[in-house]
Amino acid sequence: MKTPQIFASLLAADFGALNADIARIEPFVDGLHFDIMDGHFVPNLTFGPLILQKIETRLPIEVHMMVKNPEMYIPDLLKKSVQSISFHVEAIPECSHMGGEGPEHRPWGHCTDRFYDLFAQIKAGGARAGLAISPDTDVHLLDEFLAEIDYVLVMGVPPGFGGQFFVPAVLEKVKYLRDSFPDLPIFLDGGMNQETAALVRGAGVEVIVSGSFLFGATDPYQAAQELRGDTANV
Ligand code: DX5
Ligand code: ZN
Repeated sequence: MKTPQIFASLLAADFGALNADIARIEPFVDGLHFDIMDGHFVPNLTFGPLILQKIETRLPIEVHMMVKNPEMYIPDLLKKSVQSISFHVEAIPECSHMGGEGPEHRPWGHCTDRFYDLFAQIKAGGARAGLAISPDTDVHLLDEFLAEIDYVLVMGVPPGFGGQFFVPAVLEKVKYLRDSFPDLPIFLDGGMNQETAALVRGAGVEVIVSGSFLFGATDPYQAAQELRGDTANV
């Protein structure tokens, strides 16, 4: 089984001393995960492009947009050199009931172009383009786009808050994606701890995103190694 990378979710960092808290965790992880919330797509607010600009790190940054109408923010986000940007497959209100399988779904129609434009915008800015998916959403909504994106961010908890319990049913999404697209990187975000990380490693994810388990640990090195499943030296 391959060892996943660990990305630290800044939602659980000390917002009053963000760069100091990043420096504390930086030696033990492979990347940072920056959660943008707009108070509309999710009932919570975090930070945006201006705070992103102020982040000091040598690590790659993945931006996870939990916002409606992501096209409004992408140009400003790309002013920072980031590794990747994901937005939600549910994020464009007039497109959110399209796609997928079964009689309740309609064809994506013009929405396909809207998504493709966003992927192109992100890639033209030098970042990888990803789609995020919430636990309750039919994984087949992604089918239309899997050949166009660079990774999928599967959420292990409902978007909006840290410290929630992992929803085991999302493992089915991971298995479907792993089997159908063996080369497509899968990020798993939310509810990760020593036990749940073992489940998603077994399902074959490339990146584990963790907030409260990592930042709340007294020994972040040990916490990161537990998420990796590498506890030989801790
Ligand atoms: C939730 C965020 C996650 C969150 C994970 O809406 O997208 O990135 O920070 O936090 P934990 O690891 O505490 O579940
Ligand atoms: Zn996130």
